[in-house]
Amino acid sequence: MSSTAVTGIGELVTCDGTGPERLGLRSNAALVIKDNVIVWIGSAADAPPADNRIDVGGRVIVPGFVDSHSHLIFAGDRATEFAARMTGQPYDGGGIGVTVAATRAATEAKLTGLLAARIRELRALGTTTIEIKSGYGLTVADELRSLQIASQFSPETTFLGAHVVPAEYVHDREGYVDLVTGAMLHAAAPYARWIDVFCEPHSAHAFDADEARQVLTAGAAAGLGLRVHGNQLGLGPGVGLAVELGAASVDHCTYLDDADVDALAEAAEHTVATLLPGVDFCTRSPYPDAARLLAAGASIALATDCNPGTCYSSSMPWVISLAVRELGLTPAQALLAATVGSAKSLRRNDIGRLVLGNRADLTMLDAPSYLHLAYRPGVPIARSLDVGFTGQRANARPSVLS
Ligand code: NIG
Ligand code: FE
Repeated sequence: MSSTAVTGIGELVTCDGTGPERLGLRSNAALVIKDNVIVWIGSAADAPPADNRIDVGGRVIVPGFVDSHSHLIFAGDRATEFAARMTGQPYDGGGIGVTVAATRAATEAKLTGLLAARIRELRALGTTTIEIKSGYGLTVADELRSLQIASQFSPETTFLGAHVVPAEYVHDREGYVDLVTGAMLHAAAPYARWIDVFCEPHSAHAFDADEARQVLTAGAAAGLGLRVHGNQLGLGPGVGLAVELGAASVDHCTYLDDADVDALAEAAEHTVATLLPGVDFCTRSPYPDAARLLAAGASIALATDCNPGTCYSSSMPWVISLAVRELGLTPAQALLAATVGSAKSLRRNDIGRLVLGNRADLTMLDAPSYLHLAYRPGVPIARSLDVGFTGQRANARPSVLS
């Protein structure tokens, strides 16, 4: 396999934990990539010869964004539900049934095409790793189908049979938990790395602490890593349960009491608090206090939660700008949370930081500094850099720098 040098990098943000704000910033740097792995990093002037060259024309290179929480496999949309929410209708998870019906009715080809289009969309916005949850099938066959399709696109697939109790089981919740922890888990496990549960006593559709514990314990016994939707609609048991069971991530964390913050700080090595400010924006909810979590010593990540109900956006740059404006993070903290923090929540060391031996997942910013991610909200300055691009392709878009 031939090697490729990436040169002309005005600002290289490695996120390697060194230097001011742990960003590992380098100027006039170059990278050499072989077999999609970073094999050399240093000053452009010292770069070794390589077979190909991509000149990024003075732009910024950051690690590709790691979107560690999405529900990308679904059919239909819920734009009318969103519009109603903007006029005061609260979110309670009841609309998930609408997407379940549309997803069950879609053909495999349709679902595959929709997912492929969404992945093209997020790559064009700078994301290079995406976690994908099932959870809009909620029968053995439909959950299996969603995970089989999702696993063709990403190794980070999550079985979310415990998203809500489907309509046909509303009078037999116990029977549904038995199904999720039995036949459905058995079918799903070969196509999933993770299991997740919507643990939310404030929603009649979601699962309480006992039910969530059963789901997570069964998933762990089947060899799956644990993730939890917790503390989204109010204070609740999600964070405590996730920490107690050693989950890799507890996601939302919109409402946290002191005990939750302490537990997350205590568990910072293995349980990451994944914040989803796009959801809080699109559901008119309060924002989590990320600065408080960091001050306590917790590990945080940022993700989109892209889904048709609470946040139909796949834009990590938008999430970063929201995190800076609304969550109290500095631009550096937000970028770290969207890269190395999210990688940690997926228990991955090979992504999220641009260091020797890591994957060459590079995102290019058409800007002079990474600060522009937060400074230019809604402007498409970020995109993942396909190292197969020629130098000409990398420069194809007009640059704000020239
Ligand atoms: O993470 N809260 C649970 N699940 C999703 C929303 C799913 C939907 O409304 O379709 C979330 O916000
Ligand atoms: Fe979610």
